[in-house]
Amino acid sequence: MTFFWSSWITILSIACWAGILGVLLFVLKYKPDVEEDGTTGHEYDGIREYDKPLPKWWLVIFFGSIVWGFAYWIFFPAIFPSSWNGITTVEVDGETVPWTSKNELYSELEENDRIFTNNFEQTILVRANAAEATQTLSQLSSLQTTLRRSESPPADLQTQIDEQIEQLGPYVERLAQDPNALKVGSRLFLQNCSVCHGSNAKGGRGYPNLTDDAWLYGGEAKDILTTLHYGRVGGMPAWRDQIGEDGVRAASEYVLSLSPNNGHIDNGELDQTLVRQGEAIFAQQCALCHGPDAKGMTSVGAPNLTDNIWLYGGERETVRNTLRYGRAGVMPEWETKLGNERIMLLAAYVYSLSDRASTQQTRPNITAAAATISNEQTVSAN
Ligand code: HEC
Ligand code: HEC
Repeated sequence: MTFFWSSWITILSIACWAGILGVLLFVLKYKPDVEEDGTTGHEYDGIREYDKPLPKWWLVIFFGSIVWGFAYWIFFPAIFPSSWNGITTVEVDGETVPWTSKNELYSELEENDRIFTNNFEQTILVRANAAEATQTLSQLSSLQTTLRRSESPPADLQTQIDEQIEQLGPYVERLAQDPNALKVGSRLFLQNCSVCHGSNAKGGRGYPNLTDDAWLYGGEAKDILTTLHYGRVGGMPAWRDQIGEDGVRAASEYVLSLSPNNGHIDNGELDQTLVRQGEAIFAQQCALCHGPDAKGMTSVGAPNLTDNIWLYGGERETVRNTLRYGRAGVMPEWETKLGNERIMLLAAYVYSLSDRASTQQTRPNITAAAATISNEQTVSAN
């Protein structure tokens, strides 16, 4: 608050307080001249005024408020806030600091975190048979504190932190087996992630589906952890200036040709001349990120272009727009917002959603299903 406003409030508070106290004392002392019949002689419409003492309960409440008001000034930074902090204190970050509404909030959040972390370490990790993770977690958190506090951190500090995060991977896989941990993870997901990825985690246009086996940045537990800790920004460049509108159309046609059945989206017949031109452009410009086989590259977050899964849509015009203007999907970071423990639970939940496990076990069935689909297509084509 500015000096002007805090002085204004201080003066107003003290003046009010002193004014009310003054009036009260004056009224108590004041003895009007009383006539023989015990009235003051004032009469209003036949009602005569006596001089009776003020009711006790009323006085108690009034003086009580005045004392309470004064005590409040002493305990809290209500008046002269720039020079008087009040005598109330709270604990923040292990230090005793004067009370402010902000410090109280921090203190309560810390307390909340402490309870959460204790519960996480002593119950959730233990039940999931992953108690050793606490050592990695405490190392990670002390490295993070060093990084936060140092002005010029040593070059390898970030690498060490990343290594610790990767080491949490196997514990995340164990948490993903534990119904109790998954319940907490799913609640955190609903609170923090469902706005973008949907409450069923199936995503939407621009927001990846987290329940399938297609990953921009990798679906191993350690990849998901890294995604959650630091966030991600997709980097698909805009191509119109570089390869022109004709180039965009050709490359788009080639991308469509890579997708089985045009991505199950009715794009009509593909223009095979454009497809061939696009193939050359692809090898030159796109393979760098999407890979020579167009199956994507998790290190840069470039999606697989040969499946039926589209992040931004597989309609011809949408693909052209992706190429013309580029794309840059933003996944926020969560490290500073949720902390290491909650991120582990979220990563476990996301890991458990992926159909990775089921695809590995039922690979033959899926191949069989794919065969059925292509048979049906042959039939309908006939
Ligand atoms: C503001 C919207 C938003 C929120 C909130 C959000 N995400 Fe994301 N997330 C995205 C976008 C966009 C991407 C894709 C980034 C890209 O295009 O490169 C993404 C990517 C991801 C990925 C990588 C998927 C892959 O295929 O590699 C994971 C995992 C993920 N999010 C999990 C979460 C979790 C867990 C939360 C909650 C803590 C969350 N996200 C909250 C927008 C969001
Ligand atoms: C610098 C690396 C890079 C290059 C080069 C690149 N891409 Fe991409 N591309 C990406 C990334 C990263 C994404 C994901 C963007 C996001 O997550 O927001 C992407 C997304 C796409 C998509 C959207 C896929 C979907 O599922 O909606 C298409 C289509 C695509 N790229 C085609 C191309 C073509 C064609 C070229 C060459 C002309 C090309 N890309 C060159 C990195 C690249």
